[in-house]
Amino acid sequence: MEKDSRIPVHVSMIMDGNGRWARARGQERVFGHKKGAESVRACLEAAIEAGVKYLSVYAFSEENWNRPRQEVDFLMKLMADSISDEMESLMKNGVRFRVLGNRARLSPDLLEAISSLEAMTRDNGTIDLIVFLSYSGRWDISQAARRFAQHCIECPEEAAKLLDENEPVDMGSYLVTAGIPDPDLIIRTSGEKRLSNYLLWQGAYSELVFVDKLWPDFRRDDFFDALAEYSSRDRRYGKVK
Ligand code: FPP
Repeated sequence: MEKDSRIPVHVSMIMDGNGRWARARGQERVFGHKKGAESVRACLEAAIEAGVKYLSVYAFSEENWNRPRQEVDFLMKLMADSISDEMESLMKNGVRFRVLGNRARLSPDLLEAISSLEAMTRDNGTIDLIVFLSYSGRWDISQAARRFAQHCIECPEEAAKLLDENEPVDMGSYLVTAGIPDPDLIIRTSGEKRLSNYLLWQGAYSELVFVDKLWPDFRRDDFFDALAEYSSRDRRYGKVK
């Protein structure tokens, strides 16, 4: 059976508004992050039900390292706790778990937990859950350029190709998302309408859906609403239909 093109293959989510959600309830910002983790679970279940093959979330940007120490520590601990809490459920549901971003900045303990969950879920095939952690689009493009340059030093014929305007530059294979289809749909919550340094290369033709709800309030029905909005869009990729 042909895949229904109205269902996006890859849905990505910019989870915004956790701090505001908590403050509006007279709580510390971190309480919003805790609730936000529940929204990730709800969206993962909805994505599996809908037949989405890749679900990715912007969990922590390179810029987020500048937040107060206590909040950064909380978010890293939340990530580690979520890994141990969800392990069983991810296996049961056939979820392949992956973390993409600047691993050099993550603690050895967190790296260890991430690597073991990635190894354990490697052969699962229902859906890929990709967590962008310590990630930014400009960092990704910079690291890709560095690796590309290194490759050109090692293979001078590649460098010659790079200078030939008629040869396509295969930048995508140097990005951390190599092998993962570009996001068809990027959802951002909290009413903000910007990409905030997220998937700058990969999002070139993504459909963008902006939702006013704050991330901890974004649940199953909202996910399905965003899919319905996506299915009503006419994707032309710069061509005339
Ligand atoms: C943005 O809201 C949210 C974050 C920077 C963190 C999101 C992280 C989680 C929900 C943790 C769970 C993730 C996984 C994969 C288990 P904000 O703090 O910028 O909110 P504000 O704009 O209201 O201040």
